[in-house]
Amino acid sequence: MTDSANRWEESASQLFIDFGEAFTPSRAEQAEMMVSLVPASGDEEFVAVDLACGAGWLSGAMLRRFQSCRVIALDGSPAMLEEARTNLQPWAQRAEFRQFDLKGPAWLAELGEQVRCFVSSLAIHHLDDSEKQALFGGLAERLPPGGALLIADLVEPVNERVRQAYARAWDAAVREQSHRRRGDLGDFEEFRSQEWNLYEFPDPDFDTPSNLSEQLKWLREAGFREVDCFWLRAGHAIYGGFI
Ligand SMILES: C[S@@+](CC[C@H](N)C(=O)[O-])C[C@H]1O[C@@H](n2cnc3c(N)ncnc32)[C@H](O)[C@@H]1O
Repeated sequence: MTDSANRWEESASQLFIDFGEAFTPSRAEQAEMMVSLVPASGDEEFVAVDLACGAGWLSGAMLRRFQSCRVIALDGSPAMLEEARTNLQPWAQRAEFRQFDLKGPAWLAELGEQVRCFVSSLAIHHLDDSEKQALFGGLAERLPPGGALLIADLVEPVNERVRQAYARAWDAAVREQSHRRRGDLGDFEEFRSQEWNLYEFPDPDFDTPSNLSEQLKWLREAGFREVDCFWLRAGHAIYGGFI
């Protein structure tokens, strides 16, 4: 899944463009929850930033729900940015695409926008504990009162029993979605053959999810309030806080 520097590589981008919907538990439900948590009304003008937008499903959910918002969709992968640009064509006038390195120090200072809301799905778990804390601190400083950080991501189980439960639940979700999406187990077989379920096939050099309670603590320490987990299925949590 990764290159020699343990970074996301373009073969993973293509796999996730093709199978991301099938591999993500309840993506439509997650999209609905994420947009429901955004502190804005449907016709308000504001800027949202999608950190590691991938093929753009979360940016798309924002653009659909908020008719006057502008979305800056950031990703490190040219293939993902191209796919997002294509998928978000109906909202092209309100969407902007930029390449960034989530692990790099520069992008936040260079953003140059008043941002109401940072959102992110399935990317922050690539940061280690201290990188996550630094990111939360930087975003809290950057957000105005009334802003929010909303994250949908994998979290580290508290023990081995929970790890196995998450692994089984994720398999079950993908199996069911495979049936629903295409009437057979093709998506599920790809999920198994790619060893995508990190609760069963951990790759600690690349995937470094952190414990959810710890992350909620780091969010509070960074200055967020009303911090909580708002949704969780199969180790995939929606959590964040408000400024
Ligand atoms: C599992 S995909 C998730 C994409 C999308 N947010 C979604 O939920 O479908 C992970 C994304 O993170 C991006 N990514 C991984 N590491 C990155 C980094 N250091 N800087 C920028 N993007 C990164 C990849 O290019 C990829 O688009």
